[in-house]
Amino acid sequence: MTEFNPIRELPDLAGYGSGDVLVVFGEVFGRGYVNGLIDAAEQVGMKVVYGTVGRRNPDGTLRGLTDEEIAEKGHGPIINVPLEAGFTNSEPGTSETLADVLGAVGKDWANAKLDFEHIEVLRSIGEQRFRKNVTLFMEELRNHVPEGANVLFAHTMAGGIPTSKQLLVVTNRIFKGTGARGQSSQEFWESDLGKVCEISFEEVSARTLGHLIDLSDGFRDGVTNAGGRVSYVAYGYHGTECLIGGEYRWQTYAPYLQGFAKIHLEQIAAEAHGRGISVGVFNAPEILTNSSGVFVGVELPLYRLFDALEQEPSSKELAPEVRKVCAAKLQGGEDGLAEVKSILRDYHRAPEVEFIYEFDGWPPHNRPEQMDLMVGSAMALRKLHVNEKDLMTLDLSRLVFSACGHVMLHKSWDLDAPVYWVGHDIVAKALGRTGLPEE
Ligand SMILES: NC(=O)c1ccc[n+]([C@@H]2O[C@H](COP(=O)([O-])OP(=O)(O)OC[C@H]3O[C@@H](n4cnc5c(N)ncnc54)[C@H](O)[C@@H]3O)[C@@H](O)[C@H]2O)c1
Repeated sequence: MTEFNPIRELPDLAGYGSGDVLVVFGEVFGRGYVNGLIDAAEQVGMKVVYGTVGRRNPDGTLRGLTDEEIAEKGHGPIINVPLEAGFTNSEPGTSETLADVLGAVGKDWANAKLDFEHIEVLRSIGEQRFRKNVTLFMEELRNHVPEGANVLFAHTMAGGIPTSKQLLVVTNRIFKGTGARGQSSQEFWESDLGKVCEISFEEVSARTLGHLIDLSDGFRDGVTNAGGRVSYVAYGYHGTECLIGGEYRWQTYAPYLQGFAKIHLEQIAAEAHGRGISVGVFNAPEILTNSSGVFVGVELPLYRLFDALEQEPSSKELAPEVRKVCAAKLQGGEDGLAEVKSILRDYHRAPEVEFIYEFDGWPPHNRPEQMDLMVGSAMALRKLHVNEKDLMTLDLSRLVFSACGHVMLHKSWDLDAPVYWVGHDIVAKALGRTGLPEE
């Protein structure tokens, strides 16, 4: 288990400047974490080179983006090599794809027995495709990096839930189910279906970092021989410290089944760091993005960001502006904010969620009474909004990813450990330094 290593002080400003390059290893979506890093890099004049996961043709082949799709992205240069990882999509020519395997699992999924030798064949085909494409990506990347430049890779990849109707029914019950609709994540994880997911999550969320480091060996030598430095940052999740009851307290979302892969991500970083490679996993706070929307209730601690903003001397004066923006999204305005606070207070001190404060043994599985309370509180908070599609957590998420981007960019200049935690304290301090991000 990695030792808890929270960043307590803001890093010194990094030495990056124009001519240096941020490489996004993954694809950028509207409100994801990496947007904060891109903004921070652009602020110091760095060039940003983008990746894509590619798209699937109707016959299953993986392809790069079309000119139209590139234009829709609306950002700078894309290395148009599809970086989709994992084996959840069918490869043409493969006998019995993962979709076929999972499609054959009936209602009695808990007792289904799968052929793991065959799954290993599918995994290995996906891995070979990914490694081949990363090699092509690296070759093209050389054309984007000026002589003597410093290069920062941002690993954003997480995912790997196989596409299957049967699985969707089960995961909906795990992540959203309450009462009789609930489903134990532990029972699922111990089933063959859970085991396939574990392999798939590892493939996308963890092992991709290992492939990136490994397959950029030659590239790294080229940059360092020319006088530049190469670093890697990756986004992890391993709980977050938030201000609860007047003190910063570590807590976690449950059931974060991807957490097992995130631990592996930390281990991959630790191993590479031990070999002298400048790499750091940043365990980041819970926010709302395209990827996290499925985890109902993951956003609960995010509402606590107010408290940290008000507590930290450097961010104190930003707090009224944030309150104003958030209150405007609530039916009761300022009264609505008081209601938010009260729901959170009840939630965080309820005996049903006591286990979310236990760092050892992370990630915890869900429990029926915890799911009832967490999902119930999340729904109650949503209902306080004027428009449930325009949540205040979207604004708070932007503050968090922006602050994390600042911290990660500047910390990446001197990665003295392989794994860090970004808590609400350092988020508030970073905002105190940068000011609130522009829309
Ligand atoms: N949202 C949160 O609460 C939260 C908290 C802590 C850490 N993170 C991490 O931040 C990172 C970015 O996630 P985000 O929440 O900003 O969402 P996002 O949807 O913006 O990013 C997800 C990323 O994963 C990539 N991806 C998805 N499936 C892939 C596949 N099969 N192969 C290769 N790449 C794939 C996408 O290209 C994208 O870059 C992830 O590593 C995530 O685990 C998120």
